[in-house]
Amino acid sequence: MPSRMATSKRPTSLLVRLDPRHRGGLQRQIYASIQRAILDGVVGPGTRLPSSRALADDLGVSRTTTLLAVQQLEAEGYLAGRPGCRMARPPARLKHPTLSRRGAALVAAPQGAQRLPGPPRAFRIGTPGVDLFPVALWWRLASRRVRSITPTQLDYGEPAGLRALREAIADHVQTARGTRFSAEQVLVVAGAQQGLELISRVLLDPGDRVWMEEPGYPGARSALLGAGARIVPVPVDAEGLAVEPGARGAADARLAYVTPSHQYPLGVPMSLPRRLALLRWASRAGAWVIEDDYDSEFRYGARPVPCLHGLDVDGRVIYVGSFSKTLFPSLRLGFLIVPPDLQDGLQAARAAADQHPPVLDQAVLADFIGEGHFARHLRRMRVAYRERLEAVSDAATRFCRGALRLRPTRTGLHAIADLEGADAARVSREAAARGVEATPLSAYFAERGTRVNALVLGFAAVRPEAARRGMERLAAAIEAGRRG
Ligand SMILES: Cc1ncc(COP(=O)(O)O)c(C=O)c1O
Repeated sequence: MPSRMATSKRPTSLLVRLDPRHRGGLQRQIYASIQRAILDGVVGPGTRLPSSRALADDLGVSRTTTLLAVQQLEAEGYLAGRPGCRMARPPARLKHPTLSRRGAALVAAPQGAQRLPGPPRAFRIGTPGVDLFPVALWWRLASRRVRSITPTQLDYGEPAGLRALREAIADHVQTARGTRFSAEQVLVVAGAQQGLELISRVLLDPGDRVWMEEPGYPGARSALLGAGARIVPVPVDAEGLAVEPGARGAADARLAYVTPSHQYPLGVPMSLPRRLALLRWASRAGAWVIEDDYDSEFRYGARPVPCLHGLDVDGRVIYVGSFSKTLFPSLRLGFLIVPPDLQDGLQAARAAADQHPPVLDQAVLADFIGEGHFARHLRRMRVAYRERLEAVSDAATRFCRGALRLRPTRTGLHAIADLEGADAARVSREAAARGVEATPLSAYFAERGTRVNALVLGFAAVRPEAARRGMERLAAAIEAGRRG
């Protein structure tokens, strides 16, 4: 028995039994054995598990196999700690005895951005410049629609969404994002989040493996866990999702979730070779790819990168769009561009979920886009966001003097800022005590305890003056974090 096993007080062979004829594969068996041991109390809370390397040596399997099993257990909350030092956690099922395993996994998943109560403040992530939204214009369009509403429009509408809105979306996205599709392929949903939910429900069976960018978007991770998926964290480098390690570790995955135009949260665009490699893998594996294009409209001098959907000749890509960043998040409207093979399935799931979003909101949005206000609003917001980004960047240089360095940012609504000499988690707590939101980058990793000393700072939600005041307070938080 290797010395490391002493920590779990039982040999690997008792913890994990492998049957080479088992249909689920080795990784699945390792995952299920350890999960069972924790749920049954055979391995108690706080017990240290053998490292994935020691497990691999003992079981005579590859390190990738054990690592992916361990990472899955971690993503679902069964294990906590750093690589090489993972402890069993009290089963979430006991804490929430009425929850299904999927429900418990959802509760245990990392939640990402930390928000303080109240209106948008420095440096909130995920909120656009709602202070600049043309509310009076929206109100005019809405009252015009209400005044002319017909009995048909008061009845149930089409599950796929209002025809006029689907056409307006098709016109805009084909021009703006360099792809081709028909209005019939557009499915209007209640925000990108519902789109991710519906896709997960229609395409995944419990236990199916899904590639997920690491670090990645917690909303997507939650939707996938909610469908019982086993998440395979795939690393992201300077070219975006690293396709090769994904294919090596989980070639048979059913689905891959990516943010190619602006990786969430790191901000890198996915390179063309990677896009092509991802599509090749998807075709070979018969897998689907979710392209979440959540904030691609915002570029400040960067060249536009056409969407992945435009390169997809096999119909493997499901494009997810949202109006939460381009307009305002409480609108709760987004859309999917659905490959022809999935149209019936997704429309049925759409109807089963909530029939369709409110027809009146869809009609107002269709007018807003169709009458040119959407394109005008986007142009105005790009100018405002460039100014807001500059304000945050200048204030960081002025107040933090090298202790906080913004990585070059020319797209999106947030920036990554590396910290020197103070711990990001501590700085984040000190910032919250001063009324400033500064989320540690580590909050976006499924692998808990990942060592990255950086903050994610939203720059879109507040005016330059508020950002400067926020940065002054963040500088004080860094100073306090250094002393602490
Ligand atoms: C990566 C990503 N996808 C999608 C969304 C939008 O989700 P929704 O349309 O549900 O508001 C967000 C919002 O923060 C996001 O960050």
